[in-house]
Amino acid sequence: MSHTEPPASATDTELRKEAEDFIRLFHREEAAGDPEARIAAVRAEIDERGTYRHTRAELVYGARVAWRNSNRCIGRLYWHSLRIRDRRHIDDADSVARESAEHLREATNGGRIRPLITVFAPDAPGRPGPRIWNEQLVRYAGYGPAQGPAVGDPRNAGLTDFALRLGWAGGPGTPFDLLPLVIEDGDGKPRFFELPRDAVLEVELHHPEESWYADLGLRWHAVPAIANMCLEIGGICYPAAPFNGWYMGTEIGARNLADTDRYDQLPRIAERLGFDTANDRSLWKDRALVELNRAVLHSFDRAGVTVTDHHTESRRFLTHLDREQSRGRGVGADWSWIVPPMSGSATPVFHRTYDPTQWRPAYVHHAEAQARARGEGSG
Ligand code: ARG
Repeated sequence: MSHTEPPASATDTELRKEAEDFIRLFHREEAAGDPEARIAAVRAEIDERGTYRHTRAELVYGARVAWRNSNRCIGRLYWHSLRIRDRRHIDDADSVARESAEHLREATNGGRIRPLITVFAPDAPGRPGPRIWNEQLVRYAGYGPAQGPAVGDPRNAGLTDFALRLGWAGGPGTPFDLLPLVIEDGDGKPRFFELPRDAVLEVELHHPEESWYADLGLRWHAVPAIANMCLEIGGICYPAAPFNGWYMGTEIGARNLADTDRYDQLPRIAERLGFDTANDRSLWKDRALVELNRAVLHSFDRAGVTVTDHHTESRRFLTHLDREQSRGRGVGADWSWIVPPMSGSATPVFHRTYDPTQWRPAYVHHAEAQARARGEGSG
């Protein structure tokens, strides 16, 4: 073999292969004709710049298929309805913060939640794209116990600490203080940005029968917008690409507000309901869970905010599997994430197994993003 050109680096070889696989998939599924010319162009671009630029159609398709390939997501039936805000020209932290707030407004849509993704600048050789450190655009602070009794969402204690160290003054100290966005651009120094209040819709919890329920002061935000996963399409990583669907009630009622290492509300609710909390076999936890979850669904409905329930969504997921299968496509899924966290066996997704294959494009967690979410951020 004669070396008239410098050998491509391992990463370039990898990138070429992933790019080619993606372009072929795109052309096949979107009936976009013969992929060879596009593949040649992408190769030439990689040789020249070490990266390549997706067309708008490729980006839209890639972001949607990454949702379709999210093995942990039960809500994939509507993957094709994902809207894309193409902000690939944006790589500075101030603009990422501004556009993230705008993302929330557009996604919230007065309560009729729209599945949406905003794609910021990709990583390129010697030029990393921006990164959002928050796990989601909307998160509640978790204080203490170092600063006194623990308040808020313990899950976000690491990020809360980090924001305080960056100079954030902290919120008013309620259990539901909005965290600022923590964003890092090419200069590698994360900064914090308060979210404009009008960008965040929240729902106060009421119960369909128990009028004292509102006095518990429980609430949750309307839009779950994952912000720290990288959108990976054809070997290109978009590290800041916040995306959202709408909530399934159990995420809030059977996890966020109920888990003992989150808001841990079951004992409080059970006591108010007069259940025997000294005895596990009274099934007070189970009964409190049901009432908490009824309150979540009731409150979102009453506020006119889109929310789904685990029975409906389980059925839809099986429809999704059938539909994909009839199109000759495999669906990967992770049973332990697909099965709802309450009443699992009362839903049809419980009673079967799934192929765990992870297809691409995909939303992926980078190790460093996970370390940050655990509060191991440097700086
Ligand atoms: N489980 C997460 C939460 O409770 C949200 C994950 C995404 N959920 C969704 N419905 N798209 O905040």
